[in-house]
Amino acid sequence: MIRLRENTDLREMTTFGLPAMCGRLVEFSDPVNDLPELDRRGLLDRAVLLGGGSNMLFTAPAPALTVIHPANDSITVDKTPDGQAIVTADAAVVLDGLCHTASQLGLWGLENLSGIPGHIGGAAVQNVGAYGVELADLVDSVTCYSRKNHRFVTYSKEDCQYGYRDSIFKHQEPDELLVVCRVTLRLQATPRLRLGYKGLYDTLCERYSLDRGNPQQYNITELLKAGISPLSVRESVMSLRDSKLPAPSETGSAGSFFKNPVVAAETLEAIISRWKEKSGPAAPPLPYHMLPGGTAKLSAAWLIDKAGCKPFTEGGAALWQTQPLVIVNLSGEATGADVVRLEKAVISQVESVFGVTLTPEVIHI
Ligand code: EPU
Repeated sequence: MIRLRENTDLREMTTFGLPAMCGRLVEFSDPVNDLPELDRRGLLDRAVLLGGGSNMLFTAPAPALTVIHPANDSITVDKTPDGQAIVTADAAVVLDGLCHTASQLGLWGLENLSGIPGHIGGAAVQNVGAYGVELADLVDSVTCYSRKNHRFVTYSKEDCQYGYRDSIFKHQEPDELLVVCRVTLRLQATPRLRLGYKGLYDTLCERYSLDRGNPQQYNITELLKAGISPLSVRESVMSLRDSKLPAPSETGSAGSFFKNPVVAAETLEAIISRWKEKSGPAAPPLPYHMLPGGTAKLSAAWLIDKAGCKPFTEGGAALWQTQPLVIVNLSGEATGADVVRLEKAVISQVESVFGVTLTPEVIHI
């Protein structure tokens, strides 16, 4: 079914909760019939896709804009004889709901991604990640409708060309418009623990009253004996998120606003010497994490904090104090323009202190 509305405010359809006027909102629930029809009627031309609205910033009213919103939300689960489960979720399935369903079924894979706002369609475009897992680790295929070729196309995981918060869907030609219709994931019925993120293993050991033991090793056998399950990992992840991130029901945000910068080894050295020079010998060491291929990932939250941006505000927009990577609609009355001003102020301050240019993760419309 197709539903069309003119001059609509999308505020309630985004997690930021900022005013977001668009010329036309087109919702569809039956991709097989609806997308070819929308295509024939020219409604996919120069349109923008809006899923759960958790990673989008409408910077100004857009009276000429058409926004396409998938509303198809069925899930199927097929267990395979070799202990895997093929989970197929329509684009508008709520990611956290899917994490909950899979965890309740005892399926491993999605539990570390618990609590991330948004729909599975957007998550597959964005390659969302948290606590040592990226959605790409679980994707089997993504089915889209191509406006350019006027047909449905299934992309294998390799075709999706996943990277850090990146995929082929983020590099489309302007006339292409790939509308994600459904995402197929491969989950595991046998335990597959991902405890590498600092803090998650500790939280689980505490939960099961286990000795953390050798910090270099995870005592998985003991955790399994104690009854660790996808649901208990999910609960531990949620409590970690609650301690750092704003509650989506109370404070509007788009999660991490900036990406963690990835720099070349020589650049890293230059950044470290600049920081030491500026801040003196007693300064905390700059944290980084080496990636395969010799590049280093820096912590944007740390850079923003140490550059002194935490108190910055613009209109109703502010930084979340326990995780300054997140820009929040603190007053509930912020505008897209406030957020853009704050974004620019943070980028410029981090640039002047560290010589590093932050790039936003959030898509600007
Ligand atoms: N930190 C500070 N000051 C602060 C807060 C944090 O310096 O006030 C530093 C600390 O050193 C901390 C570090 O920031 O150890 C990293 O913080 P965190 O562990 O929260 O992880 P992150 O790299 O900042 C990423 C994702 C989050 C995800 C977390 C947990 C990106 C852009 N963000 O944040 O994803 O939840 O890891 O896995 O990669 C999202 O994308 O919306 C999102 C929230």
